[in-house]
Amino acid sequence: MHCVKKIKEDLYWVGGNDRRLALFENMFPIPRGVSYNSYVLSDEKTVLLDTVDKSVSGQFFENVEYALNGRNLDYLIVNHMEPDHAATIGEVVLRYPDVKLVANAKTVNMIKQFFNFDVDSRTLIVKEGDTLNTGKHTLTFVFAPMVHWPEVMVTYDTTDKILFSADAFGTFGALNGNLYADEVNFETEWLPDARRYYTNIVGKYGTQVQAVLKKAATIEIEMICPLHGPIWRENIGWFLDKYQKWSTYTPEDDSVMIAYASIYGNTQNAAEVLASRLADAGVKNIAMYDVSVTDVSEVLSEAFRVNRLVFAAPTYNGGLFPKMETLLLDLKAHGLKNRKVAVMENGTWAVSAAKHMRAILETMKDIEIVEPQVTVKSALKETQTEEMDAVVKALTE
Ligand SMILES: Cc1cc2nc3c(=O)[nH]c(=O)nc-3n(C[C@H](O)[C@H](O)[C@H](O)COP(=O)(O)O)c2cc1C
Ligand SMILES: [Fe+2]
Ligand SMILES: [Fe+2]
Repeated sequence: MHCVKKIKEDLYWVGGNDRRLALFENMFPIPRGVSYNSYVLSDEKTVLLDTVDKSVSGQFFENVEYALNGRNLDYLIVNHMEPDHAATIGEVVLRYPDVKLVANAKTVNMIKQFFNFDVDSRTLIVKEGDTLNTGKHTLTFVFAPMVHWPEVMVTYDTTDKILFSADAFGTFGALNGNLYADEVNFETEWLPDARRYYTNIVGKYGTQVQAVLKKAATIEIEMICPLHGPIWRENIGWFLDKYQKWSTYTPEDDSVMIAYASIYGNTQNAAEVLASRLADAGVKNIAMYDVSVTDVSEVLSEAFRVNRLVFAAPTYNGGLFPKMETLLLDLKAHGLKNRKVAVMENGTWAVSAAKHMRAILETMKDIEIVEPQVTVKSALKETQTEEMDAVVKALTE
């Protein structure tokens, strides 16, 4: 049966949910699933805004058919060509052969790369600021390069003041009947996944996200319809503020995140001792992760959240414990900056983990590595108490 949600008199959500997929983009664990949102605007002309991933295409086409209520499809606006939103364009064209694809020039090239149907004869190429009148509604297109691919644009409905924001303002997490962010406990149940989605997927492109936020600030937005996760119609400013912070690499919380690696448990012990002493010094909500247990996407997200970070790892075959190396390289690849960092190393015969951690951290922008750097030789000793206290002091002063 169709699972269409009516948003406005003439606007419908026609997407689908996947709760079976283990790894989004074959990379990010999504225990809460994911939604692929798509929208039908049923004006004098009918418009489909983006499509969905192949995994939910059955539900999607049933939804589209229901929302169109026997009418033909006039336009498909392609805001983003990543297959989680574009995989079913070919089938849309087969089912609705008269459809015109509304897309920018970069997108048109990508459609040709992914598909074999005749693209040129059914394409309406748009430029930044162009408009499309569909009857009651006038849609305008704003380019958002690298949020999250170079061809991305967003569509703004000037009539109802709705921003179809593509991947921006999206989140992991399937929609469980509730379509709107104000119908769920977003801050407690969704925010960690929204942050993990943003930081891992577009975290690297803060400058480009800033450019889009500046454009968004000039228009009146009553509703944001993203391609993943709930729709925003209340408290939009709160979520915009999160984007403002994430895209400027500004921490949200004044706390410490300790990410450690440990084979036999001694580096973990050093991390526990440090955490306990940080708490004694007044630090609240300390977060601690074993990088072999917690997925790197989660630790990265937490590194974006807080302002102070500790990395502790054993030496491994003359280098750095690989899971820690992966984490640090991931933080660097996502452009994390503007953080205070402490480093702790461990080793039994030739300790060099800290040297390798620093080598990565020192190439990152605005990362202040505090002293002292703690070296554990197999196990932390009582004689190192002062050293630990000095790290606490450096992180808390
Ligand atoms: C595969 C492997 C390679 C290691 N390579 C080194 C090394 O190159 N240099 C060193 O000092 N210790 C090396 N170690 C030893 C550990 O770094 C050391 O025992 C450390 O104290 C382990 O900390 P943990 O108790 O937190 O696991 C290696 C251990 C393993 C299992
Ligand atoms: Fe994407
Ligand atoms: Fe997406």
